[in-house]
Amino acid sequence: MNEEQRLHSSQVGEKKNKDAKDYSLYFESVYVPPSLKEAKKRGKEEINYHKDFEIDPKFLNMGDTRKFFIRTFGCQMNEHDTEVMAGIFLQLGYTPTEDVKEANVILLNTCAIRENAENKVFGELGHYKNIKRDNPDVLIGVCGCMSQEESVVNKILKTYNQVDMIFGTHNIHRLPEILNEAYLSKEMVIEVWSKEGDVIENLPKVRHGKIKAWVNIMYGCDKFCTYCIVPYTRGKERSRRPEDIIQEIRHLAAQGYKEVTLLGQNVNAYGKDFTDLSYRLGDLMNDLRQIDIPRIRFTTSHPRDFDDHLIEVLAKRGNLVEHIHLPVQSGSTSMLKLMARKYSREQYLELVHKIRKALPDAALTTDIIVGFPNETDEQFEETMSLYEEVGFELAYTYIYSPREGTPAARMEDNIPMEVKKERLQRLNNLVNELSAKAMDAYEGQIVEVLVEGESKKNKDVLAGYTRTSKLVNFTGPKEIIGKIARVKITNTKTWSLGGEFIEVLAGQEVGVT
Ligand code: 5AD
Ligand code: SF4
Repeated sequence: MNEEQRLHSSQVGEKKNKDAKDYSLYFESVYVPPSLKEAKKRGKEEINYHKDFEIDPKFLNMGDTRKFFIRTFGCQMNEHDTEVMAGIFLQLGYTPTEDVKEANVILLNTCAIRENAENKVFGELGHYKNIKRDNPDVLIGVCGCMSQEESVVNKILKTYNQVDMIFGTHNIHRLPEILNEAYLSKEMVIEVWSKEGDVIENLPKVRHGKIKAWVNIMYGCDKFCTYCIVPYTRGKERSRRPEDIIQEIRHLAAQGYKEVTLLGQNVNAYGKDFTDLSYRLGDLMNDLRQIDIPRIRFTTSHPRDFDDHLIEVLAKRGNLVEHIHLPVQSGSTSMLKLMARKYSREQYLELVHKIRKALPDAALTTDIIVGFPNETDEQFEETMSLYEEVGFELAYTYIYSPREGTPAARMEDNIPMEVKKERLQRLNNLVNELSAKAMDAYEGQIVEVLVEGESKKNKDVLAGYTRTSKLVNFTGPKEIIGKIARVKITNTKTWSLGGEFIEVLAGQEVGVT
């Protein structure tokens, strides 16, 4: 497949007489299946910045009498992509709906990280068969990470005839054209680009809420951990220009947002791809510290690129909060090697030590995979001991799930499911124990809580998060929703704190240095 084909691979797939068609041939011009060799060849020179996203005026009334519904699976990056797609829908004149049955366009923004995430999507798609039967005019689309996988696209073509559009993570800005094509065509519209070099600015967004906002700082990942599909579904690392990020966050601050989470699959690689600028995450955080917004977080970090300058900047605190999510994946150096994480247990502990020295009260949280190929009992015990040694306050724990096309999928998935489940259970018990311990330490303390709203369980109770990302439930006046309050912690549970409202924080709009 040549570059021209990669760039212009919008295709119309046949939905009728599909048994007669050879789809593998057809996909050759649409999609390059995950290939480590091919993916690693990707160059850094090809990034193009498009500053002025604009919708072709001929599409602006497309949605005037129509409603859209988006169901999102997976990580914050996907949630944020959904905000962008919702922004595009609104500019096209569509109205949002929460009721899938009254939607004229239904999109599933999918996640490919583990098999069970994919199964959920296929389950949901199955339900949409009836919706399509009752209303043949409804358009059903699949986007997000799963649409970047050849096997998934083939499965949809063969089994899920109700789908009208499939588009990839690099094609979101093309939503108006894709919808237009789907309306005009009786056939399935597929647009999945493998070419991922571009950064598109000024995309419209409908943000979820007025208190916290997500801001992409980079896209893609070049780390190629052996188990992970992300470098293939999200493409190579591309950083947004600092001025665009700073402007977006200034704008959010002016609109009254109180917290921004910087997003990237591997935010610590921010700026590595700049050829004309020596500017990394530490520099960005240092600039963002000057912005008049109370809280700035980032996710997700890779230990390998977490440098001393970043630690030094984070130690200045102010609006940079004391919570670092630092996925470790395993406590065993040999497992980490098999996972191609590019650090050892000792190097990870050394990094934790440096962070703790600079920020003794920082909350550290992590991601862990159990049951990776060849993981022995002893190696799993090393994960348990590392967890205790670091004293993580929370972890997202996963059973290893082979992803087609990744290097690990070629290793034998040789840990029996009962063993994987047993390891996960033991690890989760430890996670709960240390979470409860971390919560107990808050008893009697006064914390700053960004009040997000009423508690989901009890409308008389307010809920919000501390700088260290701990959920706090407390009683207080509703007027403080959206503000930062000082709350005295009076009781603790495994996953949340309870307390009493004291006062709204003085000068809360300014990060105090
Ligand atoms: N199997 C299980 N967990 C995975 N993760 C990523 N890929 C896989 C996989 N194939 C986990 C990692 C990562 C988190 C987002 O998902 O822990 O940090
Ligand atoms: Fe996947 Fe994160 Fe590794 Fe990138 S750094 S390959 S996103 S686990």
